[in-house]
Amino acid sequence: MQKLFVANWKMYMNFKSSTSYCIENVVALNALANKNTTIIICPSFIALGPVASTLKTSLIAIGAQDCSAFDNGPYTSQVAAQSLAEVGCSYCIVGHSEQRAYYGETNEAIAEKIKQLLRHNITPIMCIGETDTDCILSRTYTALEQQLNGLFLALTLYKQKNITPIIAYEPVWAIGTGTIPQKEYLENIFDWLHKKFLEKAPCCKPIFLYGGSVNKDNIILLNEIDHLNGFLIGKKSTNFIEFQAIINSCNRSIL
Ligand code: PGA
Repeated sequence: MQKLFVANWKMYMNFKSSTSYCIENVVALNALANKNTTIIICPSFIALGPVASTLKTSLIAIGAQDCSAFDNGPYTSQVAAQSLAEVGCSYCIVGHSEQRAYYGETNEAIAEKIKQLLRHNITPIMCIGETDTDCILSRTYTALEQQLNGLFLALTLYKQKNITPIIAYEPVWAIGTGTIPQKEYLENIFDWLHKKFLEKAPCCKPIFLYGGSVNKDNIILLNEIDHLNGFLIGKKSTNFIEFQAIINSCNRSIL
């Protein structure tokens, strides 16, 4: 069974540490990747070029952490999907809860970003997740559905593209906290996601990831959840030894 491991370096890694991580670990990273294990490294914008060139001949794929909702034009500070494609990105994270919380990113803007990515043949890794308030008010599924609507629309517009979207379910209260949801809670979420895609986008076979405080120990339990095809890993992916231990621990638990 194919598993995806997405390293979301956020702003933990600076330019120098991002490039040296790749130079020092390219051989070991490559040894971890195979037909059943896909590894995607998502550095900050500024490190994308050097990271992509260091990993060019490896099996490791490159992803960005965001992109502009617009085409090239007068959008100071923004990075267009076209530039991401040119630099070697095959994936791009959108809708991360930190983007939503700190920069007021809306579901509408995220939908525009997804359209830009699809237009440039970049696979979106769309993050969705409920806040603890959503949880308390029993509106988890309403929140997830609202977050997914823009993706369903974009997929309808670009259905000829044949791109398999990646959905990273990340409960906001689990990110960086060391806490993960109960197994039954996650089973219900991924079962709901699976059914929602069958209903709204029956032709597309999405890849579902879990993100939020993944480590080498809890990945064994997470790996037992149906419909779950991989993991979005933040802090622990910035230390190669820990990242490697997570991947090995997951693969061992499959055997
Ligand atoms: P974390 O972050 O693994 O540090 O909890 C995950 C994420 O935000 O993608």
